[in-house]
Amino acid sequence: MARHLITSAIPYINGIKHLGNLVGSQLPADLYARYLRARGHEVMFLCATDEHGTPAELAAAKAGKPVADYCAEMHGVQKALSDGFRLSFDHFGRSSSQRNHRLTQHFAGKLAEAGLIEEVTEKQVYSNADGRFLPDRYIEGTCPNCGYDKARGDQCENCTKQLDPTDLINPRSAISGSTDLEVRETRHLYLRQSKMRDTLQKWIDSKTDWPVLTTSIAKKWLNDGDGLQDRGITRDLDWGVPVKKGDAPWPGMEGKVFYVWFDAPIEYIACAAEWADARGLDEAAWRRWWRTDEGADDVRYTQFMGKDNVPFHTLSFPATIMGSGEPWKLVDFIKSFNYLNYDGGQFSTSQGRGVFMDQALSILPADYWRWWLLSHAPENSDSEFTWENFQASVNKDLADVLGNFVSRVTKFCRSKFGEAVPEGGETGAQETALIAELSTRLAAYNAHMGAIDIRKAAAELRAIWVAGNEYLQAAAPWSVIKTDPDRAAAQVRLSLNLIRVYAILSRPFIPDAAAAMMAAMGCDDWGWPDDLPGALAHLAPGHAFSVPEVTFRKITDEERASWQVQFSGQRG
Ligand code: 2FM
Ligand code: ZN
Repeated sequence: MARHLITSAIPYINGIKHLGNLVGSQLPADLYARYLRARGHEVMFLCATDEHGTPAELAAAKAGKPVADYCAEMHGVQKALSDGFRLSFDHFGRSSSQRNHRLTQHFAGKLAEAGLIEEVTEKQVYSNADGRFLPDRYIEGTCPNCGYDKARGDQCENCTKQLDPTDLINPRSAISGSTDLEVRETRHLYLRQSKMRDTLQKWIDSKTDWPVLTTSIAKKWLNDGDGLQDRGITRDLDWGVPVKKGDAPWPGMEGKVFYVWFDAPIEYIACAAEWADARGLDEAAWRRWWRTDEGADDVRYTQFMGKDNVPFHTLSFPATIMGSGEPWKLVDFIKSFNYLNYDGGQFSTSQGRGVFMDQALSILPADYWRWWLLSHAPENSDSEFTWENFQASVNKDLADVLGNFVSRVTKFCRSKFGEAVPEGGETGAQETALIAELSTRLAAYNAHMGAIDIRKAAAELRAIWVAGNEYLQAAAPWSVIKTDPDRAAAQVRLSLNLIRVYAILSRPFIPDAAAAMMAAMGCDDWGWPDDLPGALAHLAPGHAFSVPEVTFRKITDEERASWQVQFSGQRG
């Protein structure tokens, strides 16, 4: 038994996440956490909402609410949706927690002590009408390069030229439209991550088992020159973690907050402290997960994230941790994902394009989505959601293969032997062959799950379901019973036991259906079937079971067509 710390990239507070966001971090992290728990490991699985930054402030203003109220409300909404998708976080925290305030200030203080913080005076655009400094992307104007009149202060999205706000012709505030802008001096803290280049390079080079997607992005940023530039870690905003040096004020930094990308990953740590607080536990309870001098040296730490988050997790956050000079746990393995596209284009939060978490649950139960998303996870390249593919996968894998097996076996048994595991008869060559195939496949499934090769694991699980179906078809107890009822009883007994094994193996992917299958088998023993022949004899003759409600229903062509239309345009 080992100890596993697992974190998923923490979703921004503003707005409900789409299925592309879900499959890019939280859902695969949940799969892995569930698998490790099922194998008997001690797991700490953490996620939170990422609540700071200008987008959160603007979303609150748009909703006409104070930003703290808006965040509290949206945290509740996101928590309910993650429960709906059965994401089994040990704690779903908030980056705006006091724990994160204190830890963020602590890290900044340590980095300053280590000589890794520099104070820089810079010029920034101030909007008199908005009463605030404007981040580059909130300044709009005409592109000096192509003449596009909605170019942003950081980049022109028409010609892709990187811009400085002062390059724009006729600049205006993207928040209010005001042109009453001026350039003012302001002072900020910079993290001197360039000083850590060699340390980071050595660390990344030592990670030879990481997915290519992760290391290729990390190395590109390390070697590109720009990637390890010193970064401003403070902002002139009201909402955020106030800039302090540990507990002490930071002269000259009054009224400023840390940049959202500085405090967000620190929330991974703070979240463990929030977890302990919520349970009335002491400091040692969470520190044993995070401090290598207090027990975390035997923890394996795995992070999950979309590819756009990789630079922050391979460079900036490790620079914060290593730069602090304190023995905090560094990540051991980073599983990153490409993008999921939607029906010939991209999922888009700003355009409301695609299926969002609340909408998905309003039309089908979580397991249908979990199965499709995980079995099509964008691991090696971008992948695409289409309604045709979704319908085909659900109808075939879940309804025709798994659901059909469960329903045929239980209904046949009820009608011929009654609602208890039948006795008599012996297994023969067909069963031996089935058990041999299942044993080989189970070993492969374990290996893929352990390596977080999600598509391969899903394919193996599907093959395990198919093997049962093919066995049933070939064994044909409905014919055998006419001439050899004992033999049919042995076939049915094995098949009922296989339903229980399917529940155990499938639970990380489809937890609700697994629970229904286990309940129908009148059992609550979820022990992993390491001894497969033993597991397939677990439910003894005479053990009562029931026929479950429909495990999975099919998606009709009419439903598919209507959802295709319903989700093609703007989110209502
Ligand atoms: O991309 C995002 O959704 C970010 N909110 C992820 C932050 S992950 C971390 F660093 F906390
Ligand atoms: Zn342009």
